[in-house]
Amino acid sequence: MKLTSRSFSRAALASAFLATTLGVSLVLASSADGAASTLGAAAAQSGRYFGTAVAAGKLGDSTYVNILNREFNMVTAENEMKWDATEPNPGQFNYSSGDRILNHAVSNGKRVRGHALLWYQQEPGWAQRMEGAGLRQAMMNHVTQVATHYRGKIYAWDVVNEAFADGNSGGRRDSNLQRTGNDWIEAAFRAARAADPGAKLCYNDYNTDGINAKSTGIYNMVRDFKARGVPIDCVGIQSHLTNNAPSDYQANLQRFADLGVDVQITELDISGANQANAYAAVTRACLAVARCTGITVWGIRDTDSWRTGQNPLLFDGSGNKKAAYNSVLAALNAATPTTPTTPTTPTTPTTPTTPTTPTTPNPGGCTASVSLNSWNGGFVATVKVTAGGTPLTGWRVTTPLPGGAAVTSSWSAGNSGTTGNVSWSNVSYNGNVPAGQSTEFGFQGTGSAEGLTATCSAS
Ligand code: G3I
Repeated sequence: MKLTSRSFSRAALASAFLATTLGVSLVLASSADGAASTLGAAAAQSGRYFGTAVAAGKLGDSTYVNILNREFNMVTAENEMKWDATEPNPGQFNYSSGDRILNHAVSNGKRVRGHALLWYQQEPGWAQRMEGAGLRQAMMNHVTQVATHYRGKIYAWDVVNEAFADGNSGGRRDSNLQRTGNDWIEAAFRAARAADPGAKLCYNDYNTDGINAKSTGIYNMVRDFKARGVPIDCVGIQSHLTNNAPSDYQANLQRFADLGVDVQITELDISGANQANAYAAVTRACLAVARCTGITVWGIRDTDSWRTGQNPLLFDGSGNKKAAYNSVLAALNAATPTTPTTPTTPTTPTTPTTPTTPTTPNPGGCTASVSLNSWNGGFVATVKVTAGGTPLTGWRVTTPLPGGAAVTSSWSAGNSGTTGNVSWSNVSYNGNVPAGQSTEFGFQGTGSAEGLTATCSAS
């Protein structure tokens, strides 16, 4: 989707006004022809994100941070939210590095993917030495504690990472986690949902890029989870690739999406001579699948990559844009806008979901609709903001909360007030909404919000 010159000048005016008002300088992420000039802005044109893995130890490197701040609107901690980092001793939690990454992301208007609550690698030594019921108890405590610490702040969690075996079995990988019982994955998803009802919950794995035995094993698990009401919202396709994506890459994304989950490309890196073409093909595949909600590359510069010497990323060691960068940006800018349709209701059977309230027409150029997930004493509201016939460069939404209801946390919008007539406004990355397209924000609260409505106006 390209912005028209009219909408571009509206965006420029709005940004200039904001810059003057806030006393900050803003870099416009659009070129004179209206095409977005950064990965994050280009992906946002179709309601998607473009993210990167970030290492806390590099946040003092100005070249690294400049690229991070300029190009990406989603962040994954490369190692800092893993079990060995967050619970180095049993029951003793350390969030310092994870929080550093989260705070950097949030204070720069970016969202965060949480990675990863349970993984057979990077278990702390004490957990590696455990088995059976004791380990199961420690696993569930870990999921609950970490998801609670980050409650309301994480867009999507990789609840379980890499639990399936490579090769042709299509079955689970052996690990001490798996040996606690085959239901460990669903137990982890239920614990994560209870701890942070607002986060999308993902299963994440590698060598699942095409339709093969491993991805089919995962597909069957997701289908079973959906049938039985186990709360799962998304599948992460890591996409550590060499030369090419498999020819059925898009078909594989689509078959997962057809199960009723989002798909996300979570750790993309591609080595080899065909790199630029392969990056464009992966980008186009995501854009072609309505429920592919975003792409994350696994590092910024080639020198930041875990694949030492393979140069699989979008920036060279000096921070220069590579051909692969240009091909991804062009693919994002060439996209026909297809806003991803994201699920807004968790699948836990114990949390009944009220039907989505009808869209409220608004002459100010946008509409808003609420989807509510309630339980006794609390709720999560997801609000969809849809632009009318002209693009939005900013929006405001009002949600009149019933007496006794109060907002406790929110994501992807700023709020004034927590009770009564709460008003919401866009954050930096979701104010620009093309005509007819949508963006979402959400909030969690205590009390009952039954019957909640939302009214939108352009700002
Ligand atoms: O922090 C220590 C440092 O104190 C020590 O001096 C040094 C010595 O080797 O090790 C440092 O830890 C390393 C850590 O990265 C931080 O750099 C670990 O040894 C190293 O094993 C770890 O590698 C990470 C790897 O996961 C662990 O398996 C990579 O950075 C990270 O990119 C990689 O990411 C994984 C995803 O989480 C899941 N999917 C596959 C992907 C690639 O392996």
